[in-house]
Amino acid sequence: MKAVIDIRNKGAKIDRHVYGHFSEHLGRCIYDGYWVGEDSKIPNIRGIRSDIVEAMKAIKTPNIRWPGGCFADDYYWMDGIGPKSERVPIVNVHWGGVLENNHFGTHEFMDLCEQIGCEPYICGNVGSGTVREMRNWVEYLTDDGQSPMAQLRRKNGREKAWNVKFFGIGNENWGCGGFMEAEYYAHEFRKYATYVRNYQAMGKTNWWESPQITRIAGGANAEQLDWTETLMRKVPSSLMGGLSVHCYVKPGEESHGTVFTEKSWYETAANTFKKEPLLKQQVSIMDYYDPENKVIMAVDEWGIWVDNEPDSHPGFLYQQNTMRSALCAALMFHIFHKFPERIRLASLAQTINVLQSIILTEGEKMIKTPTYHVFDLFKGHQDSNVIPITWDEKPEKIELDLPQVDMSASLDDDGVINITLVNISASSHAKGQLGFAEEAPLRARGRILEGEVTAHNTFDNPNNVTTKEFKGIKIEDGNLYFDLPPCAIVSLEVEIR
Ligand code: AHR
Repeated sequence: MKAVIDIRNKGAKIDRHVYGHFSEHLGRCIYDGYWVGEDSKIPNIRGIRSDIVEAMKAIKTPNIRWPGGCFADDYYWMDGIGPKSERVPIVNVHWGGVLENNHFGTHEFMDLCEQIGCEPYICGNVGSGTVREMRNWVEYLTDDGQSPMAQLRRKNGREKAWNVKFFGIGNENWGCGGFMEAEYYAHEFRKYATYVRNYQAMGKTNWWESPQITRIAGGANAEQLDWTETLMRKVPSSLMGGLSVHCYVKPGEESHGTVFTEKSWYETAANTFKKEPLLKQQVSIMDYYDPENKVIMAVDEWGIWVDNEPDSHPGFLYQQNTMRSALCAALMFHIFHKFPERIRLASLAQTINVLQSIILTEGEKMIKTPTYHVFDLFKGHQDSNVIPITWDEKPEKIELDLPQVDMSASLDDDGVINITLVNISASSHAKGQLGFAEEAPLRARGRILEGEVTAHNTFDNPNNVTTKEFKGIKIEDGNLYFDLPPCAIVSLEVEIR
């Protein structure tokens, strides 16, 4: 196989927010995940686990979406502020019916984002909340003036307003967020979004004319085109800065978290690839109504959905994470890179101990999953300009008519080309050649994640699957040659001048 990466064709920037995360009050994502409490023996800063913060900093986490998911449309934010001893415990009706003490609320989430150095993406409550509650939450978060909510925030210990970059107006409002019809939700969206104001601009200019918090409409599953069409037709881009799309991938019939055959590996690849035409259709609808790309597509829930771990709480969605999960993540990022102007935010579901996690915890132990390592390998793509790949000789076709190799490239601001490659074959090496048009590679280095399809990390063997230096590259005659082992994900940094 032979490909050409020509930097003269460089396209739009891959928004770093495509590498975001979704963290819901679900199972052990928040409680027993990020949050251990100030009195825990596990090292923490103000109750937030430090090893998790460090791990998320290391992959340049750009944003976290919180508090849901389905949970968001049941969450009353005022239950989660003020002295912890006075906070009202709530029952998490969506996820396991468990009691939550509400010790992780607005201040703790914003503290988490500040510790990581990422942007908050807060999802407000449309399903069971009022416009006034949402309005007040935004005032509480972002007003530096003398408003009642700003005063309340100060009373609760935070003098300065926070910056909120993204605000979701409900979640899956066609389902758990109120079972609304698209037209009805479009009207609701317009009303709620009006009151998600930019308090920072208050008094300085007409607030609606100044840059807004990006208000993101609750969107459809990738398959549901009519929802997207209605929202785009009914809501002006001055109110709707983003529209969400959810994109979960099934692993085929063999859905056990760690016990499956290569059949499921290939079916996962095929099912992930099937999302590309669906997202393309979603993008086309948005392009039709918004040719200037003012409204971002936020794929704010995505990932593989396998079986819960045996004997775990059925409502907690605690799932193991294998090379199959890493494959899904890598291929999905490559799809996102194909629509850089439109897909400008994405959030993997769900960070810690839930669905396709990047981190699993057990008491004081913490492990990074194969999916974590994909985020690590791919971080060079963040805010780099995509470079389309031209195939002179296409990769061979393997099982299920899949291409053996999938690839994506980008050029960063320092002139380094980042290339990520996936060898989808579980049994054969993939050898190939990369040319760089009028340029020649000077230096290249790479890292690799590889293992059996079922390979995963456990608390007893936390580094079974991890990245290491990739030695299968050489530069010769102005080309770069690679030799990928089976079932491998590789990132290369190539300097051309
Ligand atoms: O991620 C788990 C759930 O899946 C979310 O709460 C919901 O939005 C989606 O249906």
